[in-house]
Amino acid sequence: MSLLSISIGLLSLALPAVSSSIPGPLKHHSGAPWYPKGGRPSGGPGWKTVPQPPQQIKWLDCHDRVPTTVQAVTNITASTPLPPNLFCGELVVPMDYSKRVSAQNNITVGFAMVRPPKGTNSSGLIAYHAGGPGIDAATKAWETAFNQSTTFLGLEDFDLLMMNTRGLEYSTPLNISSGVFFNDPLINHPFPTNETQYAAYQSAMTNFLESVNNNTTPAGLMAHVSTNEIIQDMDALRGVLGYEKLHYAGISYGTFVGAAYAARFPDRVGRFVIDAVIPHGMPFQEMIDHQMTAINRLILRSDAFCMTDPECPFHGQGKGAVAKAWDTLLAQTIKNGSIPAPSCGTGQPFNGGAPCNTPVTATDLRFGVHASFRSDSDFPLFNLGVHQALNGNASHLAYQPLEDVRETVVSPLLCSDFAVEDSWKTFKGFNQFALNSRKDDPHSVIYSQTWQFVLMCAAWPYKVAKQTTLKNDLDIMWVTSDYDLNLPTELTTFAWEQTPKASLVIRHGDDHTSIDFSGTPAGAAADLTKGFLKTGVMPKAQANSEVTVISPGGHRGAVPNPYAVATGLVAADTSVVENITTSSNAIQKSTGTLF
Ligand SMILES: *[C@@H]1O[C@H](CO)[C@@H](O)[C@H](O)[C@H]1NC(C)=O
Ligand SMILES: *[C@@H]1O[C@H](CO)[C@@H](O)[C@H](O)[C@H]1NC(C)=O
Ligand SMILES: *[C@@H]1O[C@H](CO)[C@@H](O)[C@H](O)[C@H]1NC(C)=O
Ligand SMILES: *[C@@H]1O[C@H](CO)[C@@H](O)[C@H](O)[C@H]1NC(C)=O
Ligand SMILES: *[C@@H]1O[C@H](CO)[C@@H](O)[C@H](O)[C@H]1NC(C)=O
Ligand SMILES: *[C@@H]1O[C@H](CO)[C@@H](O)[C@H](O)[C@H]1NC(C)=O
Ligand SMILES: *[C@@H]1O[C@H](CO)[C@@H](O)[C@H](O)[C@H]1NC(C)=O
Ligand SMILES: *[C@@H]1O[C@H](CO)[C@@H](O)[C@H](O)[C@H]1NC(C)=O
Ligand SMILES: *[C@@H]1O[C@H](CO)[C@@H](O)[C@H](O)[C@H]1NC(C)=O
Ligand SMILES: *[C@@H]1O[C@H](CO)[C@@H](O)[C@H](O)[C@H]1NC(C)=O
Repeated sequence: MSLLSISIGLLSLALPAVSSSIPGPLKHHSGAPWYPKGGRPSGGPGWKTVPQPPQQIKWLDCHDRVPTTVQAVTNITASTPLPPNLFCGELVVPMDYSKRVSAQNNITVGFAMVRPPKGTNSSGLIAYHAGGPGIDAATKAWETAFNQSTTFLGLEDFDLLMMNTRGLEYSTPLNISSGVFFNDPLINHPFPTNETQYAAYQSAMTNFLESVNNNTTPAGLMAHVSTNEIIQDMDALRGVLGYEKLHYAGISYGTFVGAAYAARFPDRVGRFVIDAVIPHGMPFQEMIDHQMTAINRLILRSDAFCMTDPECPFHGQGKGAVAKAWDTLLAQTIKNGSIPAPSCGTGQPFNGGAPCNTPVTATDLRFGVHASFRSDSDFPLFNLGVHQALNGNASHLAYQPLEDVRETVVSPLLCSDFAVEDSWKTFKGFNQFALNSRKDDPHSVIYSQTWQFVLMCAAWPYKVAKQTTLKNDLDIMWVTSDYDLNLPTELTTFAWEQTPKASLVIRHGDDHTSIDFSGTPAGAAADLTKGFLKTGVMPKAQANSEVTVISPGGHRGAVPNPYAVATGLVAADTSVVENITTSSNAIQKSTGTLF
């Protein structure tokens, strides 16, 4: 995404309808009570909270809070001048909202803000959630203040709040001890294919979660990292910053948080942009089925890309050549047992990522295709990878165990919200989901990320409430892209359909999330989100090759045929400009990131 996001988008914005009752940005309002107007949230069933004593924000020197991801590229030292509009702070909150803050019951949430220039009144508060669920949002504040991100370009007159989710980075962190899981050769693969492997996976997962729990201070935090708690943290910050309303831009897992906030605090909801959606209340099986549909569509997108790419090894072989090559590869791998991956097995990082396993099994390939297409689909790399594998070198499609999210903060954060029923906690129960989704899986990929939750979260030790759909009457903006793999576009449609006053923005193209893109045409959807955040005016219904907006009460038609939408830069696919032989952006990018 980086190459696209440095080019500046064309913003055509109406004049802002600025709210004037919002206090100026540089007074910190730290003495305000948590819920200054309208009292505490009433809560609903299962939302037990008790009144909390007021807390004050502790403002900190940002030099002491350089996010690790930023430090890795900026090398900021104590004497490096920092942008004057960048602020860092933390707030004490209860670990468990059903009890009052006390010495045994408190944690801090850390955050960074980009605030309007001195002497300018703030136009409002926009909270950003970066998803992951392990992504450190504060990084975005740094990137914004250093002009390295265009996501909030044109919104300089707002207070931009980037809170770290409790459990990570500068909020009281969970102590994620790595190495617990991977010491076991029985689980050196992306998913179990028999009872023995399933049992080994569950035992490793249990061991991992237990060690996180044992090593985290304060004791008991792992039981309190659910979305319920995260939205209360966010609302606490809203209150203490002195705002009546919260505007919101959340991507990916941040959509799950944003929708939960809107359901719980509807009268605090300002302009909400919810981009690449994890819907509340969609059954696991449906999410898995949609992810199978999405990955099968992406194999055809890769084929469509190949037809336009003279460097593609299957170029000129006609429509369907890539899909056919994948089918052949999978069949040969099943028959041969495995294929060598000569660049793997050395313990050395491969292709900008972690070390990879050799030889490559069909199970590995099934994960490899997913890894090639998730987040930032890499069609040239997949096409090359399949071709090389057919010629006996499966390195590009090999499994990289250290990049698997199972042993990261993703597991506790997700498993807090996704209840796994007892009958699914066996190999048979787990496998049944995949069997049921075969009808949506002509290319026999089998693996899906959502299926992996059923696997990971079977070991979660706490009771999780069953999810329900969240309906609301708010005029929020849902955003999706046609060919997102992480959160297939059908999931956004499902959530949008619960909200009859809301609009749906569909970016026609590839990749996960849309608000970070800039520059037309891929940035057309992002421009609409920025315009809405700035003015509160929802864009009108429209449809063109870049973006479709469906107004409240409208109907979304079928997802376009994978060959009908242009590929490449116009589809936000940066792979076309990637140097595929040196790409560091290839298979399995990061830990802490499932969505
Ligand atoms: C960071 O800056 C310090 C002080 O200027 C320097 O000594 C150090 O080598 C730098 N590190 C990197 C990784 O650039
Ligand atoms: C939070 O807990 C710490 C450690 O027990 C304690 O020192 C501190 O006073 C507590 N803060 C509040 C506001 O209760
Ligand atoms: C900021 O808002 C205050 C109170 O509404 C107003 O008096 C002041 O003129 C505004 N300042 C600017 C720079 O707009
Ligand atoms: C970012 O851009 C703004 C506007 O051009 C400029 O005032 C500011 O100094 C820049 N900040 C940094 C850290 O480069
Ligand atoms: C489970 O699968 C692994 C890997 O294919 C194999 O080595 C093992 O023998 C299988 N175990 C059973 C009980 O089938
Ligand atoms: C966690 O702590 C309990 C109690 O001390 C201990 O029995 C268990 O072995 C520990 N588990 C891990 C994975 O460290
Ligand atoms: C995290 O756990 C490890 C043990 O695995 C321990 O050595 C370390 O001190 C813990 N870190 C914190 C910040 O508690
Ligand atoms: C599978 O084995 C056959 C026979 O040895 C060989 O011709 C073929 O190339 C192998 N397939 C792959 C993808 O390595
Ligand atoms: C296998 O493929 C990788 C990735 O393209 C490449 O770096 C490596 O040189 C290849 N190895 C052999 C033996 O062809
Ligand atoms: C692309 O790869 C070529 C050959 O390996 C190399 O010379 C060139 O510097 C790379 N370009 C980029 C942008 O990484």
